[in-house]
Amino acid sequence: MTENIANKAESPRHGFIGQPLDRVDGPLKVTGRATYAYEHEHGDKPAYGHILGAAIALGRIIEIDTSEAERAPGVIKVMTFRNAPAQPAFGAPVTPTVPEVFTRARPMLSTDRVRYYDEPVAFVVAETFEAARAAAGLIRVSYEKEEGAFDLAGRLNEAYAPTRTNAGFETDSAIGNFEGAFAAAAVVVDATYRTPYEHHNPMEPHATLAAWSGDQLTIYTSAQTLANFQAGIANTLQIPPENVRIVSPFIGGGFGSKLIVHPDTVLAALAARELRRPVKVALTRQQMFANAGHRAEMIHQVRLGSDGDGRLAAMGYDVWSATSRFEEFCEQTAVFARSLYAAPNRLTRHRLVPVDLNRGEWMRSPGEAPGMLAFECAMDELAERLGLDPIELRRRNEPAEDPERGVPFSTRNLVACMEEGARRFGWERRSALPARVQEGRKLIGMGMAAAIRPNYIGAAAARVAIDAGGDVTVRLDMTDIGTGTYTILTQIVAEGLGVPLSAIKIELGDSKFPRTAGSGGSWGAASSGSAVHDACSKLRQKIVQAALSDAGDGAANPEANFVAGEIRIGDRAERLSDLVRGVAPNGIEAEGTVQPFSRNDLYKNYSQHSYGAHFAEVAVDCDTGEIRMRRMLAVIGAGRILNAKTARSQILGGMTWGLGAALMEETVLDPRHGHFINHDLAEYHVAVNGDVPDMEVMFLEEHDDKANPLGAKGLGELGVCGAGAAIANAVYNATGVRVREFPITLDKLL
Ligand code: MOS
Repeated sequence: MTENIANKAESPRHGFIGQPLDRVDGPLKVTGRATYAYEHEHGDKPAYGHILGAAIALGRIIEIDTSEAERAPGVIKVMTFRNAPAQPAFGAPVTPTVPEVFTRARPMLSTDRVRYYDEPVAFVVAETFEAARAAAGLIRVSYEKEEGAFDLAGRLNEAYAPTRTNAGFETDSAIGNFEGAFAAAAVVVDATYRTPYEHHNPMEPHATLAAWSGDQLTIYTSAQTLANFQAGIANTLQIPPENVRIVSPFIGGGFGSKLIVHPDTVLAALAARELRRPVKVALTRQQMFANAGHRAEMIHQVRLGSDGDGRLAAMGYDVWSATSRFEEFCEQTAVFARSLYAAPNRLTRHRLVPVDLNRGEWMRSPGEAPGMLAFECAMDELAERLGLDPIELRRRNEPAEDPERGVPFSTRNLVACMEEGARRFGWERRSALPARVQEGRKLIGMGMAAAIRPNYIGAAAARVAIDAGGDVTVRLDMTDIGTGTYTILTQIVAEGLGVPLSAIKIELGDSKFPRTAGSGGSWGAASSGSAVHDACSKLRQKIVQAALSDAGDGAANPEANFVAGEIRIGDRAERLSDLVRGVAPNGIEAEGTVQPFSRNDLYKNYSQHSYGAHFAEVAVDCDTGEIRMRRMLAVIGAGRILNAKTARSQILGGMTWGLGAALMEETVLDPRHGHFINHDLAEYHVAVNGDVPDMEVMFLEEHDDKANPLGAKGLGELGVCGAGAAIANAVYNATGVRVREFPITLDKLL
């Protein structure tokens, strides 16, 4: 009976979810009261570590003289491979292939081998950061250098097929007879694109404070997923994971590189144990370019064959990507194409070419970000060859079900996104022929592209407690990487329990709290939000039971409502604080969970993605080739929007990444020495305010009841998917010059 009542109280609607609520953590951040990794304090005064990186990309350390550094003022310890604590071999206890990548042992300073440029070869701990850094400069290292291999394009003959791509996808997919259908197609595009090395640069670099007390290790670090850090450190230090506590309440941006431990965390933990003193380590901005992962260089061959009406008969997408020799990473670049458009004959393949660099890592929308940049330009090329509008080409190839999995879509509003976008953007003003619109010295062009990104859900748990004062505390080890997690969870609880926003406190970023999948893969909001939603529903049931037994009244009441801090059953209303004080002075709590998509039939039986359409308008100087953005628009279908403001900010951020990828971002590798030349933010160009045009984001009304109980789907990374292609297509429309090597810098237009 209480069950019935509770069910009727399911999903109360108070209008909190979806509102453009300001960030609840905003005041802490803008007043400097939000504590970031390097700012924490724990026990004794910390010592400061600084890493010295290798000056070669491949080879062996012959001699390393630390004597001068050891005598330098303030130096406490200099660690090299000669005296570093014993650690398991790299990758132990598993081999370095994809699945265990998040938690494997990542030993530091454990051999004389150098595997990539700027790999840590020494670690200086001193009383101050400055002393540590100065002393590191006094270390003399001599190397036996070996010839590294860094080229991708010239070494495709060394390409191999990995077992799986990132996220566990098949390396290849083949349906029908691609080669035959492509050869027989009336209209074809066979285009090869290149995307460069790119680096993620969160405002807050990787940083760690490690402190031991007995055999208990506490790590304050900048982490997207605490469980990965806990297991990664436990495996590297060979200690039980339960002895490791990870704390990461505020994070200054996380774009994939903070999914796993990096040298700062390992070295801080090792040194703090040895010195019996807290140790702080931050990677410098320059060290970030070698030691925190990157997006690998890729070559993309897209082959599209259609009939004269623009119906695809053959769709082929081959990707060659550079990968580290010692730790494979195969970005799932072609995987999205398996779901995007209908075509009876299909082929996608991923191949890797080993290089002597640090491993590639997840970087903002792994797969789609570089993949859609290439593929959605190829679609534009096909549209032109057919004399079809690019939107019409996509409409004609809209699949009725997932074209490779053969299951229905949970929701798919790609066509609606394109149509709404076309209307809002004034797409009808676009010239079908390129280089026809001129304003003074500027050539004006418009472009569009589709966006798709899988909807993942990760295992998550959350605890929600209400106390005798009516205040609600929510705890989970989720992180807020700047995306707005604190805020959306507050809204979910306000809606779930019918309590005012001011009564809700969200506590995140501590591995003592119930485990979640953290922030990554755009699964954060839906996964943690679903666990919190479930916890609220369970807490409501407990409160209803308490209310009924308190009233000594087992009689059936028609409905229980949670509104304005009260529970209302029939004509009875009671403040939650009064009820809790009366029946459970220590408070009432409940834990909620959500299962990962891998164990959910709704993911087996439906193809689940978020979709969008991007539009861009550019102005290109006819004399200098300078490209300036004028307008961008994204129309998004991503299920229920939890907070209109933070969701919009996510998409705006993604569009800005797309702009960077299309026009600016490229890390240049010196083929002689194997190091990235432009390894700082002065020379690695990212889009800044002055580059960002008038941007608009619109969300379609959507509720995906297959995705999760909230009806929300991932959108954090959707904004970047296709955004760069829309710009590249606009540049082509403006100039008639098709640049297939990204970024599109002005020299390539002249
Ligand atoms: Mo994202 S690249 O999974 O942080």
